[in-house]
Amino acid sequence: FADTVAATPPMGWNSWNFFAEKVTDADVRAAADALVSSGMRDAGYVYVNIDDGWQGQRDAKGVIHPNERFPDMKALADYVHSKGLKLGIYTSPGPKTCAGFAGSLGHEAQDAKTYAAWGVDYLKYDLCSFIEDQMKAKAPNDPAQQMRLMVDAYERMHAALTATGRPIVYSLCQYGWDAVWEWAPGAKVGGNLWRTTGDITPEWDRIYAIASQQAGLASYAGPGHWNDPDMLEVGNGKLTAAENRAHFSWWAMLAAPLLAGNDLAHMPVEVKNILANRDVIAIDQDTLGKQATRAYAEGEVEVWTRPLQNGAMAIAIFNVGSARYDTHPFRLNLSKLGLHGPQQGKDLWSGKPISLSDQQAIALARHDVLLVRLDAPR
Ligand code: DGJ
Repeated sequence: FADTVAATPPMGWNSWNFFAEKVTDADVRAAADALVSSGMRDAGYVYVNIDDGWQGQRDAKGVIHPNERFPDMKALADYVHSKGLKLGIYTSPGPKTCAGFAGSLGHEAQDAKTYAAWGVDYLKYDLCSFIEDQMKAKAPNDPAQQMRLMVDAYERMHAALTATGRPIVYSLCQYGWDAVWEWAPGAKVGGNLWRTTGDITPEWDRIYAIASQQAGLASYAGPGHWNDPDMLEVGNGKLTAAENRAHFSWWAMLAAPLLAGNDLAHMPVEVKNILANRDVIAIDQDTLGKQATRAYAEGEVEVWTRPLQNGAMAIAIFNVGSARYDTHPFRLNLSKLGLHGPQQGKDLWSGKPISLSDQQAIALARHDVLLVRLDAPR
């Protein structure tokens, strides 16, 4: 299903970053309602993804049931679908998930069928206890064999999902192992997205660290298969307006899945305006599907570029440190971006036209970004 379900990076919401393992049916419905009322659904956010914490017990036949916080998963899926949205769910290949709930070990095909019967459209498969319980137990001191066991586990669930006949986005969560991007998108594993780092937190240093680690991964992403630098923290913790903008801009440049991770039902309008910025979303969703690369860094400024369809281009200039580039502006070197002479574009955060010329002074507040689209770069 790789080409049909994730031709552009998946967009939606996931429960983990804000609600963690305490998530409830009511939280998920409220998120679905807010995607609609905020206009985010119409801007492209369609997946409503339940992360860890929904699972209850297996019955005598081994069928998994949700816990008391999710009285009726089929009814929840129907509700989400009735809003023009899609439902995502979460499990692990091991006996337990990361938060200690029931995993899918030995029940892969059965669970895939259950999810399909509920109407699930997206599965996140989180390695967790499979490492200790299977990889390290079965192949102690044999990293190559451990890797094979892991890849087999991801292939097994892919086969189980395929067998249901329902198109289901397949999200791999398995950071910390060798070059996952080389095997995750293969036909047998069928990953539509795969995590490239450990967990994000709502702190600039963590967001910046993750963003930096994406340099060099651009060639692995494309329609149907995407690097996943983790879900968004826009609107969470104490991130400043500039940090929220820079984080969102960076994920859009990276062709990252855009999974909001905040409390959508109670978000301030400034946060909504960031998440729902259609010009920035259009960078993320550009159908060419080419991820940005770092063009150059100078001082505490990083300049990233992304090729877009029809010869267009996006340029993002980040002040990643705490230097005051507002009082001592950064000077852009256009030739380092392969550009010659003055350029006309759009500043996607002010919404206004902007011209860029060589050595142009660019004022950037702490942890802020200038994001520009050039429709006709020269
Ligand atoms: C680890 C993952 O990286 C997180 O995104 C989240 O799914 C938690 N596990 C859930 O336990």
